[in-house]
Amino acid sequence: MSQLTPGATKTTYQGMECTFYAQWQHMPAQHQELMTAAQEACALSHSPYSQFKVGAALRLQNGHIIKGANQENAAYPSGLCAERVSISAAVSVQPGQDLQCIAVLAMRHHEEKPIAVNPCGMCRQVMLEYSLKQEAPLQVLLKHHEGGYLLIHNCADLLPLSFNQESL
Ligand code: THU
Repeated sequence: MSQLTPGATKTTYQGMECTFYAQWQHMPAQHQELMTAAQEACALSHSPYSQFKVGAALRLQNGHIIKGANQENAAYPSGLCAERVSISAAVSVQPGQDLQCIAVLAMRHHEEKPIAVNPCGMCRQVMLEYSLKQEAPLQVLLKHHEGGYLLIHNCADLLPLSFNQESL
């Protein structure tokens, strides 16, 4: 582990290049802002079936932040994850802007405290698609299950041995 700014540690976690922030105040202001937006996005969740709100906030190349929350449906498979809601919104309303960093967290209904959540496989697949298209990594900022925050430098690390356009 090598030391960056005070409190931030560059590390390899499960084979992924990451930066670990043990505490909120160790995070750069930009990451704090993105995590705060992800928490605000939980309020946009429609999740009467799982009672599990997921919030995502995506920072674009031009500095815009696009929020998304999970949208469930009585026909369960029609539901959408927060990450894919924010990504689809971003590429639709701000076309051509690289996706730089996506922050994700969750909150259980009737609980105040945000909790850690890892992006599902389908969201990892979608993140990978856009990072390959823009030819620049998309970073993923998560709350860490054991406390603190984890910045994964490239979403591609979340999906080894992937199916992608090269596979076709
Ligand atoms: N969910 C997300 O929004 N993102 C993920 O990466 C994992 C799961 C949502 C989908 C569903 O509305 C709820 O969490 C419970 O699975």
